[in-house]
Amino acid sequence: MSTPQASTKPVSAASAPNIDSMLKEKRIFKPSAAFAKASRIGSMKKYKKLHRASLKNPDKFWGKAAEELTWAKPWKKVCVWKPPFAEWFVGGKINASVNCLDRHLTGPLRNKAALIWEGEPGEVVTLTYQQLHREVCLMANVLKKHGVEAGDRVVVYLPMIPEAVIAMLACARIGAPHSVVFSGYSAEALKERVNDCGAKIIITSDGGFRRGSALGIKRNVDEALLGTPKVKSVLVVQRTKQEVIMHPGRDFWLHEETQLVSSKCPAQPFDSEHPLFILYTSGSTGKPKGILHTTAGYLLGCHLTTKYLFDLKPEDVYFCTADVGWITGHSYVAYGVLSNGGTSLLYEGVPNHPEPDRFWRLIDKHKVNIFYTAPTAIRSFIKWGDEWLAPHDLSSLRLLGSVGEPINPEAWMWYHDKVGNKRCPIVDTWWQTETGCHMIAPFPGATPLKPGSATLPFFGIDAAVVDDDGNEVPVNQGGKLVIRRPWPSMLRTIYGDAARYRKTYWSEIKGCYFAGDGARRDKDGYFWIVGRIDDVLNVAGHRLGTSEVESAIVSHPDVAEAAVVGRPDELKGQAVVAFVTLKNGVLHSKALKDALRAHVGKEIGPIAKPDDIRFTDMLPKTRSGKIMRRLLKEVAASPNGEIKGDTTTLEDLGILAKLQKSED
Ligand code: WTA
Repeated sequence: MSTPQASTKPVSAASAPNIDSMLKEKRIFKPSAAFAKASRIGSMKKYKKLHRASLKNPDKFWGKAAEELTWAKPWKKVCVWKPPFAEWFVGGKINASVNCLDRHLTGPLRNKAALIWEGEPGEVVTLTYQQLHREVCLMANVLKKHGVEAGDRVVVYLPMIPEAVIAMLACARIGAPHSVVFSGYSAEALKERVNDCGAKIIITSDGGFRRGSALGIKRNVDEALLGTPKVKSVLVVQRTKQEVIMHPGRDFWLHEETQLVSSKCPAQPFDSEHPLFILYTSGSTGKPKGILHTTAGYLLGCHLTTKYLFDLKPEDVYFCTADVGWITGHSYVAYGVLSNGGTSLLYEGVPNHPEPDRFWRLIDKHKVNIFYTAPTAIRSFIKWGDEWLAPHDLSSLRLLGSVGEPINPEAWMWYHDKVGNKRCPIVDTWWQTETGCHMIAPFPGATPLKPGSATLPFFGIDAAVVDDDGNEVPVNQGGKLVIRRPWPSMLRTIYGDAARYRKTYWSEIKGCYFAGDGARRDKDGYFWIVGRIDDVLNVAGHRLGTSEVESAIVSHPDVAEAAVVGRPDELKGQAVVAFVTLKNGVLHSKALKDALRAHVGKEIGPIAKPDDIRFTDMLPKTRSGKIMRRLLKEVAASPNGEIKGDTTTLEDLGILAKLQKSED
């Protein structure tokens, strides 16, 4: 196995880029012989050989891989790299919707379920590839009827209903880049994104079902549109049948519009580098960044990673719990699954409606084989209690996935034992909106798993952990996670702001893409993400990643979730403040605080013992479930708990008031 090289240059204390890594995980889980035999990459020998070859001759590797896609015209050159701008499969022409739909219509897949959708109230709709193709063609023709041409941006503001996937593919079919905005975002957030990408049309719905009631969605569009001069039409899906105001000449019911158009819509071929979509990511501060992905490279990344890392087979029912408003919903609800001819299960609502066993019910009812969710959800399941799983048959599951944050080893073990019944490999996937597809993740039939590690890079991905000068840091030392060469599904730019693209991703470490995350590699070369670099704690000269301290706290049996931040401290530089959520039924106490401090001391070392522990019922999270440590830092540092930072991406605004009162 390739181990990272030791840094050749001594690191000066002044730059002190390294992160001390103290948490050691010893458990290892190898794939079963049966799983390995049935999967595409069945041994480490095969993985290593292919990974080595892919780095030795990337053009050959990617060129060969791209033959798996259906092209209207073959490419001339695999990659043109003018740092930091890349073009892939130059000269080729392709259509993403053809790859997800049309190419499956000539064989037996045509009558197979492409999407199975369950609404929160419980109704189920299944669309075969033929049916989905028809719906996509109808919606594409409606867009054309409303004057949408190749290159025009279309904002999609929909709940998790089939139309969300249909809209993306309809846009792809006619070359109109989509920009999906999460339907839980406010009118203000929608307005900002619509204006930034200059969309002239929005696809939305009257509402959606969430937590048992019909939420209004169209009304946010009405409010946003008071400040979006370019928008000419709004197409409205009827989902809840609640009352909405339709502005004559601007707003149209989609089900009426589809009656007026043909169901034939031949797909146009587009250049490989034709923009496929813009997806806004909020980042920790400042204006949201419009991450731009283009057609062929993005599609190839989604296609290959779904095939090899999820080991997706046509007979699988695959359930990814992410909303289409996030990159995971783009790459692994829609594009990657459909380009492989898979069956994607979509669910509209929340995991605890009507009761906290909804996902287990869905898995049992639809016989899900592959289940992909986030550590934040897993920690909620643990908090809600194991009794919610017991009545359900989860034996159809054969593979589990995790994404979005480092998964704490204890949450990993729970997922493995309770959901996977110790049978299913867990594919912990490290990647980002910007990377388009998985970058570091295990091959489920080959890679021995270590709880909490995303393991090793995918084919063609040259990932490393480096110091500020770009030298690889020694084994088990933390540093900055970088990718040292371009890959097909990488973002091409930040929409309308190439300078920000260059500065954010390509200026930190010379010649490398810097992901913003801290990581270390162990003696086997495995990657361990230790958290965002901006969140690293500096305690008495030791730099500690948030994830290790949090994992140590979460490994205490009474704890459900923890977030750790630094508070300025005259003596130590930073003091460690931990916000801790306890499992249902556990009471706050001084004794428990002492026990937790002692526990961290034992797991990591005295340096990481929290100076302050505050119990709270909830942690502040973004809508995609990431803990907002930035806000916690403010709460921890200000004597009266005042918060001045931007809170617009916070899921539950009420939580700040609660945190300010959190018991300390
Ligand atoms: C974090 C989500 C550890 C990381 C696909 C990254 C992870 C950011 C993992 C991107 C993982 C995502 N282990 N950390 N398996 N997956 N992250 O853009 O900090 O919403 O930089 O993309 O999430 O978040 P984004």
